[in-house]
Parts: sequence; C-alpha cells; structure tokens
Amino acid sequence: MKLTAVVALSLTAGAAFAQAIPEAQVRRRAEGLLAKMTPEEKIGQLSQMFYGIIPGMKISDDIIRQGKIGSFLMITDPVLANRLQHVAVDESRLHIPLLYGFDVIHGFHTIFPVPLAMAASWDRELIERVQGLAAREASAVGVRWTFAPMVDIARDPRWGRIVEGAGEDPYLGSKVAAAQVRGFQGPYDGAADHVLACVKHFAGYGAADGGRDYDSSWVPEDRMWNVYLPPFHAAVEAGSASLMPAYMDLNGIPATANTFLLREVLRKAWKFQGFVVSDAFSVRDLQTHGFAATPEDAAFRAFTAGVDMDMGSMTYSKQLPALLQSGKISKTELDAAVLRLLEAKIRLGLFEHPYVDVSRVATVFDMASTREAAREAGARVAVLLRNEGNVLPLAKSIQRVAVIGPLGNTDDLLGSWTLANAHEHAVTVVDGIREKLGSNARVEAAPGVQIARRYPSFFDMLLGAKPEPKWDAERVKAEFSRAVDLARNSDAVVLALGEKQQMSGEAASRSSIDLPGEQEQLLEAVAAVGKPTVLVLINGRPLNLTGAAAHVPAIVEAWYPGVEGGNSIADVLFGDANPGGKLPVTFPRSTGQIPIYYAHNLTHQPDTSAGFTSRYWDEPSSPLYPFGYGLSYTQFAFSNLRVSAPSVARGGKITVSVDVENTGQRAGDEVVQLYIHQRSGSASRPVRELKGFERVPLAAGQKRTIEFALGAEERRYWNSAKHGWVEDASKFDVWAGGDSTASPHTTFDVSE
Ligand code: BGC
Repeated sequence: MKLTAVVALSLTAGAAFAQAIPEAQVRRRAEGLLAKMTPEEKIGQLSQMFYGIIPGMKISDDIIRQGKIGSFLMITDPVLANRLQHVAVDESRLHIPLLYGFDVIHGFHTIFPVPLAMAASWDRELIERVQGLAAREASAVGVRWTFAPMVDIARDPRWGRIVEGAGEDPYLGSKVAAAQVRGFQGPYDGAADHVLACVKHFAGYGAADGGRDYDSSWVPEDRMWNVYLPPFHAAVEAGSASLMPAYMDLNGIPATANTFLLREVLRKAWKFQGFVVSDAFSVRDLQTHGFAATPEDAAFRAFTAGVDMDMGSMTYSKQLPALLQSGKISKTELDAAVLRLLEAKIRLGLFEHPYVDVSRVATVFDMASTREAAREAGARVAVLLRNEGNVLPLAKSIQRVAVIGPLGNTDDLLGSWTLANAHEHAVTVVDGIREKLGSNARVEAAPGVQIARRYPSFFDMLLGAKPEPKWDAERVKAEFSRAVDLARNSDAVVLALGEKQQMSGEAASRSSIDLPGEQEQLLEAVAAVGKPTVLVLINGRPLNLTGAAAHVPAIVEAWYPGVEGGNSIADVLFGDANPGGKLPVTFPRSTGQIPIYYAHNLTHQPDTSAGFTSRYWDEPSSPLYPFGYGLSYTQFAFSNLRVSAPSVARGGKITVSVDVENTGQRAGDEVVQLYIHQRSGSASRPVRELKGFERVPLAAGQKRTIEFALGAEERRYWNSAKHGWVEDASKFDVWAGGDSTASPHTTFDVSE
C-alpha cells in the first residue's frame, strides 16, 4: 500500500508538531503498534546500522522492507534519506519510519568551535543557541537524533576525546551538558528544527588508564558519584531522550553490560525514561572484552543490562530471536525496549512527517545568521593566557604581518567530528587577518615545520584523506629558514601552532602533551627575532606551554574554533572582540604532572616554601594555568564578598554576593566564579569546588553585584563509607573571583 503520496505533498522539512503530543496518546499509539508486530519486527526496531560510511558495506533495501532495521546512522544526504524512508514507510508491513542518527557534535554544515572550546565560553546561552543551530541544519537533511552531548569528565589531557567534552569539572560539566540538551531538543521532543539528544559515554570513559582511548577505567565509588556521574544526571534531568554507554570496562565490567550503571543508577536512581543505544559495535565487543562467551551471550548480557538498541553490530538481530524463543529473554522485556523506541519516533512526529523537503536544505545551510553565530562563538571561546606589555590587541594600522606555523593556513581549525562537512574549507588564520587588515597590509604565511601523527587517523582513513607528502631534509631546512626570515621582515608575528585536527578526538590520544614536532624550536627561533609576537594555539587539549610562555609575550588559546575560525581569531587579535573565555581544564606544566586538577584534596601539611616542594622536587606542584583562568584586554576587581547569613541549618540555603567592577578602559566580560571548601566532616573534601558562575559583560567603569544561591544541593556529596549522599555540618570557606585561585574570601557555617 502506498501510504505516502498525500503525506509527502503536504510536508515541508522541519514540519513537526506545534506542541508536544500528550504522553498518554504517545503510549496508546505505541502500544497499538506494538500489538501488531512480529518478534522479528520488534527486534528490527532495536537494530541500527551504519549506512555509507564503512567502505565496502552494502545494505539492501530488503532489510528495510522486511522491518529488520529501525535506524541508520551516518546518512547526511537528504535525497537518500527520503528514498530509504519511502521504502520503510511505503513498503514495510507496518510503515514504521526510520530514525536517522548522526554525530552532530559541534555543528553540522556550519562547524562551530569544538565542545571543549564551547565550555571555555562559560556561556550557557551561547552553548544552547549554537546546538540549536546545529540541530536545525541536521534536521533539514533528515537527521533527527544526535549522538551528543558527550559529557565525560576528563582530567587527563593525553586522552584525545577530552576535546569532545566540557573539561575537568563536574559543576561546569553539568551546566554545559544541560545547555546542550536544551539546544538540541528545544522545548520538547519533536519540536520543529530540533533533534533528539543522546548523552554519552556512560560513564567514566574519561578516566581511561594512561589517557589511552578505550582503555579500562577504574573509578572508586565516591569519585564516580561526585565527579563522573553529575553531568550525566544533569543531561537526564534536562530531558535527554537517549543515552549511550561507553566502550570501556568500568571497574572490570564493560559499560555496555554494566547493570550498576544502566539499572541501579540510570533507571532506578535517576528514573530515566528514554532509550539506551550501545556505542558502535560494543554489543559484539563484549566478547572482545573477555566478558561474554559467545555472540548470544553478548546480546543477552547487553540487553538484560538495559541496552535497548544495538549500534552497528547486528548482534541483536542475529541473537535475540533465539533468546526470545528459549525464554531467556521475556516478551515483556522485549516489548518494554521496543516501546521506548516507538515512543521516541512518535514524539518526534516521524509518522506524520517522515520526509524532508530537499529544496529547503540549501536555504537552511546558507543562513548568514548561522555563520555569524559561528564567528561570534569562535571569539567568545578564546582564552587569553598571557599578554605581557599589552602586546595585544594588535593595531589595525600594522603593515606587515607574518603568520608562521603549520596551522596558519589550514582547515584544521574545524577540529574533529565534522563528517557531514569534512571537505568544507575553514576561514584560516591568514584569511581572517587579511580580511581584517584589507589590501594595505601585507599578510604572508610560512608553515616553518611540518607536523603529522605517527599513526594515521581512523577518520582520515574513513574519509580517504591523503597525508601530506613528507618533506625531505632539504625542504625541512629551507622552510624553517623561510619562516624565520619572514618573521624578521615583519612588524608583528602571529605564530599559529598546536595540533592538526585529527591529533585530538576519538582514537587520538597521545603519550605527551608537548607541542608536536619541531614547533617549540620554531617558536624559539621566531621569538628570538624580537618582533612583537603572539602565539595563537589551535588545539583540542591542554598542551605543555611552559617553553612557549617563557619565550612569547602573548598567548591566545583559540582551540579549534570552527569554520569561521580565522575571522574569530582576527577579531580577537585586533581588538574587535575582547577575550572573555576561561580554561575549563587545568593546563599542566608538563606531561609528568598529569593528572592535575584544581579540586584535589589536601592530604599533607604543605611546606611553606614556594610551590609546595614536597610534592615534586623537580617541578612546582601548581599547574602552569589553573582551571577557570583567562585574561582580558581590560581589568576587573572583586570586592564586598558576603554571605546572606553567617550560619545556616542543614538543608538551608544562603546567598553569596560579590561585586565585580571593570576597572579598565574598555568593555569586557568577566566570568565570575564561586568556589567553596568544607573544612571538616565525614570525608575529606577538595580544597575548592566550583559551585556557581556567570559570564558578566561590563562596560568600562561598570560595577555589578552578582548573586549565587548555595543550598544543600551544592554542599552535599557522596560518601563512600556511607554509600550515600551526605550533607555535613561544618565551617565552609567561600571564594569568588576570576579563576580557581581567587582570593576574596569569607566563610559560613552549616549547623546540625
Ligand atoms: C563513538 C561514539 C559515536 C559513535 C557513532 C563511536 O566510535 O565512540 O561517540 O557516537 O561512534 O559514530
């Protein structure tokens, strides 16, 4: 039966329900459908396949026609999406539409700054807005489900996927997670131009041994609840429609079959109502882990732990029929999982609006306001790490600018996870500066050195990207001298150093956080020329900048700023944007300091000599740049830190206020940060913990009072001796200021 002739005509892309469908109706419709389904059709809804991206993989339409597949990932061509959707809707027995998923991580067509950078904006409104724009572009081609946000806490910058998250802190991470979910999903599941979110990777992935991707994580109970789980909880509370368990094993049990995570925490403690999709092939890989004995055992253990959908491995489609028949899995369990998937499709409006209007895609992609948002975001994420002698901002009257370094004129500004738009060019640093200065200035580039991964990137392989041919010894020398000569003949030097885009991301861990290749030598040689020099970092993880900070007066952490990156960077360098970003993660002095994070416990009387020398005798114990740190072209002063009451009973709330003033000559943003410390109690608590923040725009001379509420929610923590949440009676320290070392201080007491 051809159902869709009428439907197709009446549809425009983005068509959706004007408001959420009542939940009772969703349930009724899903149950009605379920009652008609065969076991094979039910299992089909729990199966998701990659389409197109895996070389040589052919998928016949029959699998759709027979109702053996519920979802595809990686389809970004709207014509293909519509064609396959027609097969599902017109030709399958029950006309159940397909759900298309994709990794919309930091943009779809328009690439925005990478997630770690977005977290550096400390700007919830911006994060929500940007993910909303990404959702609009993705949904225009038929993608209605993103595998994001990634909310894994990462305290080891060797781990490549640190770039995909919000850094080291559970409080910041929770706020960023919730903002992303709101941005992707909009006011309700199924809102026009939005997509379903999938919070990932549950949980502890960022604690991988040695920072090696996919390696085991060993996370003690209290750290799990206090550090790794809160951003997931925040995403669930914000309504994330789905969740993805991580690849690795957590405390010896693979996350994909981890009943503690999926049953105890997710369903029981958090009452999660959405559906759970495995990570790619990880149901199958339960055998690789030495956990499941056979594919059947793998399907059984993932399914019974709570994984509703199998991504990529088709283990469910092969194994669940027999498991059902033998009674090892009950019809009730199967139905519950299928119902969750059907409900998601109903809420999304896929039954009413299964197709996209292909003619609308170009219009959505070409929206100037989206490009403008990308440029604005690129500037708002920049963190000014150093500005000795106010080298920055540079004057626009400058005549000769040398842009030196392997990242000065490349598309690497996009960052990883740009699969929908991998061949788009970014505005490079050179382009951005040329555009800013116009034809009167001479802006020239020289890479100076070549950098490359030792092992090829898995994404480059997927995309068929060819590595740049390796320079021979003669060229190595010539390029280096050309770069230094160019610096000599310039009025100012912009060093664009860091990491190529595939040096950070999935399967992109490193054993060291030093600047790759000969970049440090290049930096020293260029700095020695003595011109005003600014280092612009293009990267997705904390790098060792100890050498750089000793040689160059100004450093801007630009991260991977996205497709408008060169313009955003030029806006910052020439003062059209005043940097206001702050580090969402500590920058160590060297690889050897890892792990280092601000919210550590104080476990020994610190010696009074500089740098707490009993920690290391060869290196200070402090990091190079602390969490929350970032400078501005103006200055801020904090005063009048006060609490609404000197003491509060357990469970009670107090208000903390602080005045912040722009004491400089130009407008700028300060991120006001609130930290607390519990002095005594039933466990040792971190020396400081972030418990509030706000990015505050201030005109020159303007002063504002910022208030934060501090309640039991902010003071409670998980106690491993008690296996539960506690709120201790104690004296608390409070600090407020512009980073995690802020000095304005006061106290309050929590009484019994
Ligand atoms: C990654 C996930 C991603 C999935 C689908 C996996 O390799 O770990 O983060 O969502 O692939 O692309």
